[in-house]
Amino acid sequence: MKYIDIVNGPRHVSTIIQGCMRMPALTKEDAAKVIRTAYDQGINFYDHATCYGEDGAAEKKFAEAFPLTGLNREDIYIQSKCGLCFNRNEFDWTKENILSSVDDSLRRLKIDYLDTLLLHRPDVLYDPEEVAEAFDILEKSGKVRFFGVSNLVPMQIELLKKYVKQPLVINQVQLSLEQSQLIDQALYMNNKTTDFSVNRDGNALDYCRLNDITIQAWSPLQFGMFGGSFIDHPDFEELNKVLAELADREKVSKAAIAIAWILRHPAKMQAIIGSMNPEHIKDVCAAADVSLSHHDWYTLYLAAGKFLP
Ligand SMILES: NC(=O)c1ccc[n+]([C@@H]2O[C@H](COP(=O)([O-])OP(=O)(O)OC[C@H]3O[C@@H](n4cnc5c(N)ncnc54)[C@H](OP(=O)(O)O)[C@@H]3O)[C@@H](O)[C@H]2O)c1
Repeated sequence: MKYIDIVNGPRHVSTIIQGCMRMPALTKEDAAKVIRTAYDQGINFYDHATCYGEDGAAEKKFAEAFPLTGLNREDIYIQSKCGLCFNRNEFDWTKENILSSVDDSLRRLKIDYLDTLLLHRPDVLYDPEEVAEAFDILEKSGKVRFFGVSNLVPMQIELLKKYVKQPLVINQVQLSLEQSQLIDQALYMNNKTTDFSVNRDGNALDYCRLNDITIQAWSPLQFGMFGGSFIDHPDFEELNKVLAELADREKVSKAAIAIAWILRHPAKMQAIIGSMNPEHIKDVCAAADVSLSHHDWYTLYLAAGKFLP
């Protein structure tokens, strides 16, 4: 495993994060195996959100399973996100909701503090002054150590930064070989002949790098919006062929190569894996020790259906 220090944030965090979105479906024994397997592979960072499972079911399952893992709270970083209220059909970044969501997460996770709290997708009605008040309260009470965002474009972060005192240290966004919009727009810049040039995120990648905001790549093996994994999927024949060639060369799985493609980017991102299968978790974590060349990176990118403009 490789580790990075998040600027102004937690130090020595694994470049691969274990996502817990799919944990509600597991028994507590199987959830414990997932947590422990990830830890044994070097993962020390676990990602949650209030909306993963009904009534925070992922956070509850994690807390039920954690005592079975033999780990201590201090051994790991726990991150949660708030703001997506699917039960109410709205996104909510009000001070009241941020504060109550953190209390709910802490109660469900049976812990005293979150290492990082991210504001999930933007509530378009958000008032940055309210967010700032909520963050001050959470920081002073010791309930949250560091703050960040998820799925935000640069100008939304700039607006928050005008009011929020704490550094925003993370932006969690979608990125996989198939869903590579974060990267595409820069390569195809200004090219009228392809949709790859469409700037969908206000240059979030360069903005985050310029502002020391670590990118966490969610759904690194998925196509579309939760379309399923492209690994071994018949619609991604060329991509799977190249993944298999590099996997053979590096003696790892195809999934590990797909994660290594994200980790190869010089932005020093973290990749959030979502597997609930211990064997897959072991396979995928080998990605941290794979060194893809400059040429490998482009070969994979092109095999995923892109072209050089
Ligand atoms: N901020 C946001 O808006 C946002 C949105 C979505 C997700 N997330 C975060 O990102 C995390 C990861 O998302 P994700 O679950 O979509 O990630 P993913 O790692 O891209 O996909 C995991 C899924 O792929 C399957 N899979 C198939 N073949 C696999 C293989 N060879 N190796 C590993 N997995 C394979 C897994 O099945 P098995 O379980 O059988 O291995 C699992 O169902 C979530 O847990 C959550 O923490 C954040």
